[in-house]
Amino acid sequence: MAKQIRIEHVFKVFGDQPKQALDLVRQGLSKQQILERTGQSIGVFDANFTIEAGEIFVVMGLSGSGKSTLVRMLNRLIEPTSGRIVVDGQDINALSDKDLRALRRKDISMVFQSFALMPHMTVLDNAAFGLEMAGVDKAARQQAAQEALEQVGLGAWGGSYPDELSGGMQQRVGLARALASDPAILLMDEAFSALDPIIRTEMQSELLRLQETKRRTIVFISHDLDEAMRIGDRIAIMKDGQVIQVGTPDEILRSPANDYVRSFIKGVDAAAVFKACDITRQALTIISEHNDRGCRAALRLIEDSDRDHAYVLNARQRLLGVVSAQSLRDALHGHEGMLGLKHAFIDNVTPIDASTPVADLFGPMATAPCPLPVLGEDRKFLGIISRTTMLRFLDRDTPPVPPPQQVQPPVTLNPLFPTGEADSPSMLQEHSDSATRQPQGEQQ
Ligand SMILES: Nc1ncnc2c1ncn2[C@@H]1O[C@H](COP(=O)(O)OP(=O)(O)O)[C@@H](O)[C@H]1O
Ligand SMILES: [Mg+2]
Repeated sequence: MAKQIRIEHVFKVFGDQPKQALDLVRQGLSKQQILERTGQSIGVFDANFTIEAGEIFVVMGLSGSGKSTLVRMLNRLIEPTSGRIVVDGQDINALSDKDLRALRRKDISMVFQSFALMPHMTVLDNAAFGLEMAGVDKAARQQAAQEALEQVGLGAWGGSYPDELSGGMQQRVGLARALASDPAILLMDEAFSALDPIIRTEMQSELLRLQETKRRTIVFISHDLDEAMRIGDRIAIMKDGQVIQVGTPDEILRSPANDYVRSFIKGVDAAAVFKACDITRQALTIISEHNDRGCRAALRLIEDSDRDHAYVLNARQRLLGVVSAQSLRDALHGHEGMLGLKHAFIDNVTPIDASTPVADLFGPMATAPCPLPVLGEDRKFLGIISRTTMLRFLDRDTPPVPPPQQVQPPVTLNPLFPTGEADSPSMLQEHSDSATRQPQGEQQ
């Protein structure tokens, strides 16, 4: 069972005059000024948030911002100056030594950046090392270690020695060592930071995969925002001991709390973080139950609304097809009577699934004959993505993604052809009006 961790107004001051140092922080002195004036170092200042059971919670910040100090307080490698850390309802600072040992043995494991494997011990014994320290007997710890090695893809390497393994494989052994005790909480302090980029990405995927098979509460320290965005369910950003912002990757990218956070997210690969539904814009839509008519009405609607395309839906908001002024004119050319919209549908329109990462849209968008429809659950039409949308997304001076669009009930326009003209869609709707238009008011 994964466990929740509540961090309640936790402070850590390194030095023997913590009260004096904390008073100075409250008076607005910087960490550096306090260090110069008092010799006290602020490790963590008033951290107050909850890490939910089963989430990957990433702590980010520049070197010296207090990440390691914070995480070391979670298993009491460092004692807080004040505040409480509550694991599944239990204040861990109130534990007896015996209970603390049990907590570290059973519930919390830690993976470090430079995982010193013992060179003279086999991979299996290295993976079993934590359990050995905890006094688990040999057969049981070897079995647990073997299972942990299998989980990280090193099942066949138990008899090898560390120097026979690549750096990435050695780090896997470190992970296996932490997993061997089957902990509910995994603390990972820059565990992947020393790995080269490809192996690092591989390890991130490995961690996400492990999380699929068994959910643990993972507190992951990183100074790399791409890594944080990729694996974090939520992220805390620290600066000079203070937690500046806690949020999902999406929340942090959409509404950074201040310039510090903004400077962090500047270089982030937003295309890997955001999905098609995050950048979907509203479109001109036509609801048509009568597929045997409507071309003239649709053409007039498109011309009047100064759009290039309209998206034809059935009453259940499922996409039937896409028409353009040109495709309607072409279909109507030399045609006298009623003409169904389907005769004007544009070919080769491949809808986009709402969950597709933006990074994967550049190819399809480049060759798309029109802004592409985005379909959500049950293939429901959500809106469109145009090449302009993609360009805006790439422009780093505007926020990567506008705030979510207000979902408004469909606006039903007056019947287009009140004079009794038969050739009209049953209902027309405008998914976009000036009240809900985004600030940058994008047209297709
Ligand atoms: N044992 C210690 N004694 C004195 N100062 C410390 C000690 N450990 C950490 N610090 C100070 O606390 C601050 C936070 O350090 P740390 O938690 O290691 O940051 P990070 O992991 O984000 O790089 C730093 O200013 C560091 O110098
Ligand atoms: Mg650190």
